[in-house]
Amino acid sequence: MSQARIGIIIGSTREGRFGDKPAAWMHTLACQRDDLQFELIDLRDHPLPFFDEALPLTWTPAKNAAAQAWAAKVASLDGFIVVTPEYNHGPSAVLKNALDYAYAEFNRKPIAFVCYGYVGAARAIEQLRLNAVELQMAPTRNAVHIGMVEFVGILQQGKSFDDYPHLATAANALLDDLTWWASTLKHARSANH
Ligand SMILES: Cc1cc2nc3c(=O)[nH]c(=O)nc-3n(C[C@H](O)[C@H](O)[C@H](O)COP(=O)(O)O)c2cc1C
Repeated sequence: MSQARIGIIIGSTREGRFGDKPAAWMHTLACQRDDLQFELIDLRDHPLPFFDEALPLTWTPAKNAAAQAWAAKVASLDGFIVVTPEYNHGPSAVLKNALDYAYAEFNRKPIAFVCYGYVGAARAIEQLRLNAVELQMAPTRNAVHIGMVEFVGILQQGKSFDDYPHLATAANALLDDLTWWASTLKHARSANH
């Protein structure tokens, strides 16, 4: 069986976003491993409207062309790393909307989180874990929480991710989780359709 493919989704689309930095760092780190394949996914390349389908996607596929392209991208992947900010103690609206815009394509796949904010965006991630369960996904325990010290250091003080080696330790624990879940669930989906 081919290696599992993981999409690293940048969960902010605003101009001047910080999200590019942790996404590029995570992508570089992940590509050093040979057990999974990785692809960076920018939600700017998937300009979804705010959800306006007639029915929930649990009932019927989306009619909107951008949503169909998004669902096809999600379907092509075996797992996800979401790189997300925390907005008002929740995930960004653009990321939540992207999760709402596919259903069956997310089912029975793992999702892991790289997040940044004043308390490492922990509040947003707990909400995303609940959303993921409703999408019939397997949220991993290990996550990368980029807290205020690292966030400000990288954003304003010329520091890099290498100055905070605990982040790479957390990222490798996340990747270990994801490798097991992505490979196991890919095999199970293939065996059970
Ligand atoms: C609408 C809004 C709400 C925010 N709320 C939070 C918050 O609840 N917790 C937090 O840690 N940071 C919060 N922030 C600050 C963000 O962490 C910071 O702006 C970060 O750069 C956003 O990620 P981005 O640059 O990739 O979009 C908020 C920012 C915005 C724009």
